Amino acid sequence: MKGPREFFTYKKGALHAEGVNVEKLADEVGTPFYVYSRAGLLDPYQRLTRALKGLDATVCFAVKSNSNLAVLKLLVDAGAGLDLVSGGELHRAAMIGTPAERLVFSGVGKTPGEMAVALNYQSRGILSFHVESVEELATLSAVAVDLAQVAPVSLRFNPDVDAKTHPHVSTGLEENKFGMSREEILAIAAQLEAFPGVALQGLSVHIGSQITTLAPLERAFKRLIRLASQTEAAMGQPLTHLDLGGGLGIPYGDAPSARAPTIEQYGALIRRLFKALPYRLLLEPGRLISGNAGALVTEVLYRKSRPRRDFLIVDAGMNDLVRPALYDSFHEIVPARKSPPGAKLKATDVVGPVCETSDRFARARRLPIGLHQGDLVAILSAGAYGFSMASQYNSRPRPPELLVDGAQSRIIREREDYDDLVRGENP
Ligand code: LLP
Repeated sequence: MKGPREFFTYKKGALHAEGVNVEKLADEVGTPFYVYSRAGLLDPYQRLTRALKGLDATVCFAVKSNSNLAVLKLLVDAGAGLDLVSGGELHRAAMIGTPAERLVFSGVGKTPGEMAVALNYQSRGILSFHVESVEELATLSAVAVDLAQVAPVSLRFNPDVDAKTHPHVSTGLEENKFGMSREEILAIAAQLEAFPGVALQGLSVHIGSQITTLAPLERAFKRLIRLASQTEAAMGQPLTHLDLGGGLGIPYGDAPSARAPTIEQYGALIRRLFKALPYRLLLEPGRLISGNAGALVTEVLYRKSRPRRDFLIVDAGMNDLVRPALYDSFHEIVPARKSPPGAKLKATDVVGPVCETSDRFARARRLPIGLHQGDLVAILSAGAYGFSMASQYNSRPRPPELLVDGAQSRIIREREDYDDLVRGENP
């Protein structure tokens, strides 16, 4: 991966998203705003499908990473499926007409109502429910029987592998709430007659997010393969598919510490392990596709010096992009106007207006001392888990989202207004 600067570059000293000047966008829509590059979204998707060529593989974009309808439509029109985790995401998938056979439903807490809607989707039901517990399986079976249907199921395996990522986004350890153990899965496979409304067709695994080495993924995939044959022996028939989850990390900057495996290396690992096996593969990448395709553009409101630190106070806050506050995550921050060579830099905290100390996008970041009131900066790598995790905290309307294609841009979600903030409230 080339990192956050591939689709956000300076042209004549002005930051552009593809061919569009970011300052011009700010003139049109105000700040803060999210901007996504169409090529930035399509390129990793296409590279991944190319890297998996020769395998029977379907890439299901993890909707939770960026759920804007225009983003989903772009990817679905390019051939992608979608990985869903809620009825709301299923509603989005339906709105853009995603084909049923390209939808998988993950998550530890699907409700019976969500199951029923997914079973009735386009009157044929979705490709796979990724089931995470015996009780969930029994519930799904009962819902399907009520609807006179059979639910296609993959059981989510928790391989007890340390993904070596932030604990908040690690999912493949025994202590995590996700998935089931080998023993639980084999016990289910041996008594499938107890679940007449389901057809066990596959297994799935997802050990975490922002994984920056391939070794834990390889370990998890090998355990998955071993368990697949054991499951087939226990149930007396073959499985048809394996879902490898998402989780491959992206570089959040140019620093060596920010490096991640390339899509091609990831693809090569999957080919090596699965090429000779008879399974259809499903993948659920989110961040890999949307992460470096987006930026959050914000205006400097004030510069302020305190005894121990310098602050730039910007008009975006943790409600707009919560990742740094929640995971202490690094996002590169660049000025919309390139500072001249040799410009003096100073360690600066970039903070938002929200009344929380954790409302901070960067700590002691070396930024041009000349950045001041009215200047714009772009917080890069904000395409994944940016807007999709935004809130109205501090009664702040959520920002608009824009999509750029070459020299064209369009608003794919309007800025919220104060009426949006109070919609549905009864004083
Ligand atoms: N599949 C399942 C079952 C998942 O739980 C997730 C992410 C994905 C796929 C997509 O993972 P990705 O390819 O994007 O790593 N909010 C956090 C990330 C949470 C990830 C949750 N699950 C962040 O901003 O870093």
